[in-house]
Amino acid sequence: MNKSERSGGTMYTDKVMDHFMNPRNVGEIPDPDGVGTVGNPVCGDVMQMFIKVKDDKIADIKFKTFGCGAAIATSSMVTEMVKGKPVGEAVKISNKMVAEALGGLPPQKMHCSNLAADGVQLAIKDFLSKNSKGSKTSASKKQGK
Ligand code: FES
Repeated sequence: MNKSERSGGTMYTDKVMDHFMNPRNVGEIPDPDGVGTVGNPVCGDVMQMFIKVKDDKIADIKFKTFGCGAAIATSSMVTEMVKGKPVGEAVKISNKMVAEALGGLPPQKMHCSNLAADGVQLAIKDFLSKNSKGSKTSASKKQGK
């Protein structure tokens, strides 16, 4: 019999179960400022993060995860952790911090948490590489040519 799937005090914390059952910020941002795609070499699952940046802060973030419950929970949690944060702070959030914010993950599921913060960091890198043309402030004053 399968005994380790449901919460029941066995495998996942209540927080993990909450974010797994009711994930926050699921979906896609149509015109994102940055996208990060990460694959998990251990299991082959994939996750994508989409960010919108305004005034150097993460104004919006959404994710799509093709992965297990722990991957969904960590993705959901990291979106809550970075939303509204300055880009420079958001980029410092680590996989470990995400797992800790969820009250921990079972050791065999720690690899799943690698997707979440890495995805955010890649999305931020993508944003920075697109906006590293010198102008530091609102880069949206382009006049049509
Ligand atoms: Fe693939 Fe968890 S088993 S991310």
